[in-house]
Amino acid sequence: MCGIVAYVGQKPALPILLDGLKRLEYRGYDSAGVAVVTDGHLLIHKKAGKVRDVAAGIPMDFEAATIGIGHTRWATHGEPSDTNAHPHFDCAGEIALVHNGIIENYAAIKSKLEAGGHVFKTQTDTEALVHLVEDWYRVSHDLFTAVRLALLEVHGAYGIAVVSSREPSRVVAARKGSPLVLGIGNGEYFVASDPAAIISNTRQVVYLEDGEIVSLDPSGYVTKTIQNADVMKKVMEVTLELEQIEKGGYDHFMLKEIHEQPETIMNTLRGRLNEKEGTARLGGLRELTDRILAADRFTITACGTSWHAGLVGQYMLEQYARIPVRVEYASEFRYRNPIVGPSDVVWLISQSGETADTLAALREARARGATTAGIVNVVGSSIARETDGGTYLHAGPEIGVASTKAFTSQLTALSLITLMLGRLRGTIGPDQGRAIVHELEILPEKAEKVLEQEQTVREIAREFQSIRNFLYLGRGYNFPVALEGALKLKEISYIHAEGYPAAEMKHGPIALIDRDMPVVFITPRDGTYKKVLSNIQEVKARKGRLIAVADENDQEITRLADFVLRVPHTLDFLTPILTIIPLQLLAYYIAIDRGCNVDQPRNLAKSVTVE
Ligand code: M6R
Repeated sequence: MCGIVAYVGQKPALPILLDGLKRLEYRGYDSAGVAVVTDGHLLIHKKAGKVRDVAAGIPMDFEAATIGIGHTRWATHGEPSDTNAHPHFDCAGEIALVHNGIIENYAAIKSKLEAGGHVFKTQTDTEALVHLVEDWYRVSHDLFTAVRLALLEVHGAYGIAVVSSREPSRVVAARKGSPLVLGIGNGEYFVASDPAAIISNTRQVVYLEDGEIVSLDPSGYVTKTIQNADVMKKVMEVTLELEQIEKGGYDHFMLKEIHEQPETIMNTLRGRLNEKEGTARLGGLRELTDRILAADRFTITACGTSWHAGLVGQYMLEQYARIPVRVEYASEFRYRNPIVGPSDVVWLISQSGETADTLAALREARARGATTAGIVNVVGSSIARETDGGTYLHAGPEIGVASTKAFTSQLTALSLITLMLGRLRGTIGPDQGRAIVHELEILPEKAEKVLEQEQTVREIAREFQSIRNFLYLGRGYNFPVALEGALKLKEISYIHAEGYPAAEMKHGPIALIDRDMPVVFITPRDGTYKKVLSNIQEVKARKGRLIAVADENDQEITRLADFVLRVPHTLDFLTPILTIIPLQLLAYYIAIDRGCNVDQPRNLAKSVTVE
């Protein structure tokens, strides 16, 4: 995820900025840069690669500056490159800006500004904002006002810091949906996206809230709302240590990433829903749309968790867009002489975008003339570059080896693709499309609600920590969730777990059921609910112990299951985005109780770049 650091005071700014950026490295990034104002000039140095690479090339004239901004970028719009790295600057080279988040309406702002003579140099959404500030500066001649007025035009999420050679001792910063903290020193001030970047300088901080903007200079700071109302802020003391801050106060990256899901689901949706038309807009697929609509069928190929997401995608696309879909392990696809040709679309799903088998499957599909589309998290990764088009997840870097937030973002992206194609093919009508858009919009809140049950999950985990085998059962959309829940448990707790379609149980696995084989049923109130209840009865009759992931209004399940985890009601095809969350938590807490290393489980790598 991107990181921001800024400084204004009496000391040389550069070492403070570089030190801050190094402390943000744990968040993952692909490029970095700094801008300082010195001697009436704005100087910028930025580069793809590591902070140390940026630091190595900084010219001497940066050293005298006592004001500056710095950034580590994790690409969302535009590949990782020197040009796309932040800070971005205006036409005159007088204003520089760093930004975390996504400017949803950047394309419209850019067109308007280009028509007015602004020249853009990068592929980023952020550059639109700095040119917009430039436009407002021409009118207001005041950096604080210019930034404030520009932000009134922006839709999306931002944490920003801005400097200008016109006002050489002022930093302006603002936030909406992306965190920002001010560090209060003695005649000096800091801004950071994360306290980790500044706690070696000061532990006195002020947290900005959404919609707030601040102007800082060595004599003090003023906070207002974007609408220009005064705001009084409270200074607080950071008591956390660096390692705790890096994990967002959580004990592990995996737990942090599980908790990030309401936000990451929202980031995958951001700027892509069209309420009025009841559809989704996916810019990365625009050029492929004709080929996608003309395709006879889709193949989805991926590995591990991404393959599970593909299975859910198959159910979604076949039901709503009425396109035949097959899902294949990438490792099998490449070696079995697949029947794929120019009338096929092959979708590659990958968090890292570097998985060797998925990359090889992509090359195989291309060699056979198929259209290829990626559903990828890491911008500029090999799969993102080599596909004909695709959709990014915007879930931010996933550090825990067990994939969690990438999975729910993959499902969210697949639901957007399904909605868009269903609308284009006429298999989803406008009213149904609007209902889906509405439900997607409130999904992050529902995910938040699921997370409130953490304490219940802990208690269940304690009960089952010494069990040696688990069975996960689900049906329809939640059969792949059973597979994914079992995979999570296997990966991090080393307990043997199997996922099955619930109705398959009676064809074999039922022989295993006894008190020592707990069964996790994923059974929201969807089209298969009643059928799954019969399977539950079959387990009960054999004295099996039962954990159910069920709808929040389901009273019947309370009678049948030993433990119940609740999810808010949603549309059938969106239920996996919610039902997987308690299973991620269950795997996490069982692993913790067993003393396992959840962030780096044995024998596993985050990105499998070998065959
Ligand atoms: O980066 P990818 O999505 O291509 O990775 C695919 C699998 O290696 C990955 O999902 C793996 O199964 C994870 N460890 C699951 O938690």
